[in-house]
Amino acid sequence: MSIDLAPIVRIEHVEISYNDAKHQKVIIQDASFQLFPGEMVALTGQSGAGKSILAHAMVGLLDKGFTVTNGQIVYMNENIAQFDEKRLQFLRRDEIALLIQHSLNGLDPIRTVKKQMLETIKHKKVGTKKEKESILYTMLTKVGFHHPEHVLNSYPFELSGGMRQRVLLAMILTLQPKILIADEPTTALDVINRDKVLTLLKVLQEEFGLTILLISHDEISFKKYADRVIYMAQGGIMN
Ligand SMILES: Nc1ncnc2c1ncn2[C@@H]1O[C@H](COP(=O)(O)OP(=O)(O)OP(=O)(O)O)[C@@H](O)[C@H]1O
Ligand SMILES: [Mg+2]
Repeated sequence: MSIDLAPIVRIEHVEISYNDAKHQKVIIQDASFQLFPGEMVALTGQSGAGKSILAHAMVGLLDKGFTVTNGQIVYMNENIAQFDEKRLQFLRRDEIALLIQHSLNGLDPIRTVKKQMLETIKHKKVGTKKEKESILYTMLTKVGFHHPEHVLNSYPFELSGGMRQRVLLAMILTLQPKILIADEPTTALDVINRDKVLTLLKVLQEEFGLTILLISHDEISFKKYADRVIYMAQGGIMN
């Protein structure tokens, strides 16, 4: 795999603080790392270190009370921390996709997969419903479903955890992001499905040139799949 010299994302001395009426605390003190186009980087470290918060900050989705109080998050030479909400929506839709921790609950259990996937690409100007459905077929096939038709007509509650995770990945792929941040994408899965999802991420990295930030506690998995590993200690100190 060849890696471009210019990073696609630069996290530079990022500090993230949390404020409410009673508390004011620094959650992440000084995080810095870079992502280069086309690589898969694992971000790991102690529970509570701030990995998920940083992932949210990278797509401008910090919860109320959290702010980037120092440093910058630079995507293609622009500071994300200065984006307005509209620009952030485009960033999330077209550029950086975040598969959130516990996102298996992100699918509505009682609406068909087809309805939810069509919703995801409704803004795409790809013509007819037939053409849109054909994109869904392609993506579901890419994530390893041999009978996409069957999956499209299923309700998420009828699918296993591993299948739902792959549906979520297919949904994200229809958006053709440049970067995928996958926050603990395999923790809810058994070993077989874990390997399936990680192998799939590796294929997507290679086939689409996707840059992947894999947040994970599972050392055995990420050592096997990631190109390199970054550690975050308590308080978001990188080492
Ligand atoms: N809603 C919140 N209000 C106040 N503090 C919070 C809130 N959510 C998270 N935190 C604090 O932010 C810190 C970082 O949380 P974060 O979820 O980013 O950790 P993490 O590294 O992703 O952990 P894990 O590996 O368990 O997923 C935690 O120590 C937690 O105390
Ligand atoms: Mg987390």
